[in-house]
Amino acid sequence: MAIENFMYHNPVRILFGKDQISKISKYVPKDKKILIVYGGGSAKKFGTIDKVKKALEGYKIGEFSGIPANPTYEKSMEAVELIKKENYDFIMAVGGGSVVDAVKFICAAVLFEGDPKDLFFWGNNEPAEVKNALPFGVVLTLPATGSEMNDGAVITFVERQAKLSFGSPLVHPQFSVLDPELTYTLPKRQLANGVVDTYVHVMEQYLTYPVDARVQDYHAEGVLKTLIELGSDIVDENKHDYAVRANFMWAATNGLNRFLACGVPQDWATHILGHEITEKYGIDHGRTLAIVLPSLMNVMRNSKKDKILQYAKNIFNITQGSEDEKIDKAIQKTAEFFESLGVPTHFKDYEIGEEAVEILTNQLEKHGFTKLGEKGEVNLEKIRLIYKGAL
Ligand code: NZQ
Ligand code: ZN
Repeated sequence: MAIENFMYHNPVRILFGKDQISKISKYVPKDKKILIVYGGGSAKKFGTIDKVKKALEGYKIGEFSGIPANPTYEKSMEAVELIKKENYDFIMAVGGGSVVDAVKFICAAVLFEGDPKDLFFWGNNEPAEVKNALPFGVVLTLPATGSEMNDGAVITFVERQAKLSFGSPLVHPQFSVLDPELTYTLPKRQLANGVVDTYVHVMEQYLTYPVDARVQDYHAEGVLKTLIELGSDIVDENKHDYAVRANFMWAATNGLNRFLACGVPQDWATHILGHEITEKYGIDHGRTLAIVLPSLMNVMRNSKKDKILQYAKNIFNITQGSEDEKIDKAIQKTAEFFESLGVPTHFKDYEIGEEAVEILTNQLEKHGFTKLGEKGEVNLEKIRLIYKGAL
């Protein structure tokens, strides 16, 4: 048991702190024609788009708005058409994970010669290779996904009724601005979603089986502890405490800039089961994870035993009782933490009943996700149990 071989390359330049938007022109070549892409309007309403435009004075600039939460292929393709028609060659993503994800796909799709639908991971299909992508920068307004410092995206296909993953080293952002003050306008629901999403990103890379990867384990535990210690302050939407939001923002980026994944096994079943819930019932991404994770920990308790016990001890200081009692307690503490943020952990809290178990399991089967988790043990039978345990 030792750290597995790995390759780690992360070229994303991080501009962290107050007023860093004003520095971005340093990292965009002067001859670029820039399309600013944003979501439903929060970035415009709260003045972030104006700040970006001011920072980019002198460039040729256009705007594209309306990227929805859980960004769709269909909307992204509208941007692709605009970019081709008006010859933009640099994109600025201003928003949360949805805008950043859409921009990643857009930047690859614009230069892709085949059908952009082939770029997606779909069950067991190998996605087509991205050979080229437009460069883009990010101004992040919602800490949660880590998309600002990674090479992945999740796109919803209305037509295929699926949320599919897309990724390529060529869609790492050129730079990402992380200004904690931009989080002050977030409502409690989005702050809580961000805490849970970050927490679960860490768990997907940490709560598997031990390979004696101490740097990764302690780093993961550090991010989890940060979230637990600051959770109630982070979700207090009226508390604009810079130090708290700065820790939150950096925790979220660290949750999924893939550093935690170096040399360790990874799970991701909670995410894949969660994506189906969003697709079917429209529940926010972070909230779906709070439904799935405690139940998954319970169903996979034997397979994950060593890591759950380590988590119990190092995160919650659970040292008394039998192994099973410690595991029960760790699962309970995890669910309590999510609930303390105002994020429910059961389907019934959303008035979703037993029928969901078969509907969601069938969707996963249809999408080819039948051997999930770090050991490929999360099969349809386990998936059913996990959804059932979350009712
Ligand atoms: O659309 P606007 O008007 O901008 O409003 C957004 C949106 O309604 C609002 N918002 C964002 N910043 C704000 C703000 N409101 C007030 N003040 C601000 N500063 O928040 C709402 C949610 O935004 P969204 O971008 O959808 O949230 P999030 O960052 O949680 O992203 C979720 C998406 O990321 C994917 C998810 O599947 C989901 O589609 N993920 C991407 C990952 C990745 N690329 O690595 C990993 C994640 O696990 C996740 O799957
Ligand atoms: Zn996530």
